[in-house]
Amino acid sequence: MKVFIDGELFDGKAGRIPVVDHGLLYGDGVFEGIRVFGTSPFLLEEHLLRLSHGLRAVHLHLPGGLPSLREAVATTVNAFGAPDVYVRLIVTRGDGALGVDPISCPTPRVICIVDRVQIFPEDKRKSGVSLATVSTRRPTSDVLDPRVKSLNYLNNALARIECRQRNADEALMLNQHGTIAEASVANVFVVQGDRVLTPPTTDGALDGITRTAVLELARRAGLHAEEKTLGRMDLFSADEAFLTGTGAGIVRVKSLDGELIGNTRPSDVVERLMTAYDALTWQRRD
Ligand SMILES: Cc1ncc(COP(=O)(O)O)c(C=O)c1O
Repeated sequence: MKVFIDGELFDGKAGRIPVVDHGLLYGDGVFEGIRVFGTSPFLLEEHLLRLSHGLRAVHLHLPGGLPSLREAVATTVNAFGAPDVYVRLIVTRGDGALGVDPISCPTPRVICIVDRVQIFPEDKRKSGVSLATVSTRRPTSDVLDPRVKSLNYLNNALARIECRQRNADEALMLNQHGTIAEASVANVFVVQGDRVLTPPTTDGALDGITRTAVLELARRAGLHAEEKTLGRMDLFSADEAFLTGTGAGIVRVKSLDGELIGNTRPSDVVERLMTAYDALTWQRRD
């Protein structure tokens, strides 16, 4: 693992931050997870755009702006020195007093971590993961807009604990209306015939970079790709279902709460989208 903290590089856990960083004390900050295929950060500008919107939404102003983040990513990926890695780019409020008001934090902190990750083994990604509906709900968009990828992942961590207790691979998180928001670290899609559906961000979904790429790939493949409010019943009645996320790409969903997903009619939409997504990552690889 290589770690970049405010311009300095460290090996693995040697990278340390002060305990008074408000990212640690209050979850005050935003982040991105970015995949690097070969040595090219995949959809980097899309990730930086989402991060810049999040920074603006939480009133965090980076003196070096986006160029300093591009530089942090390039420096850390280069220092890691091997292809096909995962980048965690974090901007925290920085060091401050033991009070929540960010007025005591004059300088944001930029952290970049580069390592290898494997979210799901390749065969499981293709054969399908199990989902469990968890009781932990996604905060409503008037509490915390789900489009801000903030350092507040406590709900997601609680959702993971619940799904592990139920021996499932991922958590299905609902919103306050009981409709589907997303999984703990991924967006949720269902396939019904030639329709590819995913909940809108107003239902509590992160505006996922992979989600947007997959919606576009589906449209290019002649499928009807739409945002639509979905309930658990839409998963039980789906021909196929899948998750999307930077770390894992496209992941088939095999079951929900112990019930297998799929109908008797054959559907190859997930396989087609996986092939199209793999092709896109190869095109962008250097
Ligand atoms: C809560 C949540 N939803 C969805 C996603 C997928 O988003 P993306 O495709 O941008 O990685 C993530 C990724 O980390 C996430 O944390």
